[in-house]
Amino acid sequence: MEKRSSGRIPSNLKIKLCLDHDINTGILSNLSDNGMLITTKVCFPLKSQFEILLPVGEEILKIPVRVSRLLKKNDVYDGIGVELLEPSAAYLEFLERQSMLYQIKEKRKKTFKCSTCSHITFKQAPLHCPFCKSAIDDFIENSGEVNMLEDYTSLTDFEKTHFPVINIAKGSVPEMKDRGMHVQIKVGEFPHKMDIDDHIAFIDLYFNDFSLSKKCIARLHLNCQIITPIASFSFHDACSGALTVISNCTAHGSWMTETTI
Ligand SMILES: [Fe+2]
Repeated sequence: MEKRSSGRIPSNLKIKLCLDHDINTGILSNLSDNGMLITTKVCFPLKSQFEILLPVGEEILKIPVRVSRLLKKNDVYDGIGVELLEPSAAYLEFLERQSMLYQIKEKRKKTFKCSTCSHITFKQAPLHCPFCKSAIDDFIENSGEVNMLEDYTSLTDFEKTHFPVINIAKGSVPEMKDRGMHVQIKVGEFPHKMDIDDHIAFIDLYFNDFSLSKKCIARLHLNCQIITPIASFSFHDACSGALTVISNCTAHGSWMTETTI
């Protein structure tokens, strides 16, 4: 039985499995300093040894492993558990970085929703909702329910109609005499429909100047008379920090995109 000396870190990385001259693909589902769980359709014999090729930046880590478990779902073979054979220092460094990233992501995901107006706050609920003034008791923790944009290249068309797209133009705002930053927010890359039972109800804009926590600085309400959910804001050019935008769809919940200005 495989001994687990540290917690498993969830992952979704594409890897290659190299047995003799046979190279197959798999997804690394989780990893630790002594084992991994891999989703793959390729059937490996129990106790067989092979090499995992894991891309890290421009390098490829070669990780020798031994099959310790065969996994099945509904009687269909769908993965393996492996133990690591003397993990290298480079792998342990990679693991440390993955662990830190995972912890940061988990912290970011802690959100609370105002049950009156659906405004989202981060880390903790406010004493009062900045928009509808509901009290802290009306906020419910909804961690995991806000869709957060992480990898744009893997989005489906449905997701592309919901995630806000942020475009920033510096020094191109006529009313600011060629100074400032013009931020345009569109929901989404393919415009979301604005039907009575499925439309973007509001766009909330948050700003974090790298020293304070995320603060909501504006909300744009939309209704079905609006054809395209687009909002524009102008910032002083001295502003620098992280911009977070959440769009709220009446049928499909909250969708968050972040960038820096
Ligand atoms: Fe929607």
